[in-house]
Amino acid sequence: MRLVRLERCSSGIKLGKSIYSENGKILLTKGTELTDSFINRLKNLNINTVYIEDTASEGIDIIESIPVELLNEATNVITDGLNTIADINMTKPTVKGMIETEKTVRNFQRIFKDILTILTENPTVLNLLATTKIHESHVYTHSLNVTIYSCQLAIKNGLQTNEIEEIGLGALLHDLGKIFVKPEVLNKPGRLTQEEFEQMKSHSQLGFDILRKVHEVPFVVAHCALQHHERIDGAGYPRGLKENEIHPYAKILSVADVFDAVTSHRVYRPAMLPHQGMELLYSGSGTQFDTDQLKLFKNCIAIYPQGLTVKLNDGRTGIVTKYNFHSVGRPEIRIIRDEEDQEVAPYEIDLSSSGNLTLEIVEADALL
Ligand SMILES: [Fe+2]
Repeated sequence: MRLVRLERCSSGIKLGKSIYSENGKILLTKGTELTDSFINRLKNLNINTVYIEDTASEGIDIIESIPVELLNEATNVITDGLNTIADINMTKPTVKGMIETEKTVRNFQRIFKDILTILTENPTVLNLLATTKIHESHVYTHSLNVTIYSCQLAIKNGLQTNEIEEIGLGALLHDLGKIFVKPEVLNKPGRLTQEEFEQMKSHSQLGFDILRKVHEVPFVVAHCALQHHERIDGAGYPRGLKENEIHPYAKILSVADVFDAVTSHRVYRPAMLPHQGMELLYSGSGTQFDTDQLKLFKNCIAIYPQGLTVKLNDGRTGIVTKYNFHSVGRPEIRIIRDEEDQEVAPYEIDLSSSGNLTLEIVEADALL
């Protein structure tokens, strides 16, 4: 199985993984032969890449970091939960509303515990590309993805379980305020006007104002919503906090937040691949992001996910087959083209083994 850009797919290609709707229904089952009309439909649904089966990539299995069933359940819990908390707590809370809120927070905690258990019991590097889903509204999926990335980064920080659980709840709720931003502003394809940008920016304060009144939510979790757009250099919002004025949880969230935002499709730009997203984060090292958090985050994610096509500095081309946990930027690769770009009988090399240390990945893409 390998990852390809949809624009390079033609009819007759066999789908390697099922494609899901946002609430978890299968839209196209793995093994389906793509037709021109399927390809067009997927393009219209903003799918950029798909997994396909072909001879060159035979036997390459793509491991999902989180089982799709849990991702689907979590998306549904988040969708209901964010709307419930926003609806109930904007007005004067009633007893019924407080009970509903308490139930929602408990559901969030339960979902997060399931994610935490999976990530602690099966040490992995995260590849959220491994599950292809259609998103109607990006707030819910984004909240889930940020939660998964933050959880992994919090584990890498060596934090205590209760701290990781606070970060998890903070991540699930960090964009609560976006429920109140008008969809035409949230999903505007072009540049935002100053007024629209101010409206967009208000989501962190708005989320905080709601969450600080919910007594099941620790105050530090409300601060995750408030501070996740602050920057190390003080140029962030809403308060322009600097360096150590920013809560450590918010430093973790901001890395996870931007990484997911740039590696996900938005109406105003296509998704970046993980190595491009990582490069972008590094361009903000010490200004937008905490440098230590970036270093840790680099080891949390599959920079070169399985199934990606990579070109080496000696001219050979291969497909990523396996991660090396000790060296995530140097995976195992199945070589399919030689130095002269001629097809060869596939063979595997491990970029992390001592004989291959002069080799570098110079290009990576989702290709056929
Ligand atoms: Fe945000």
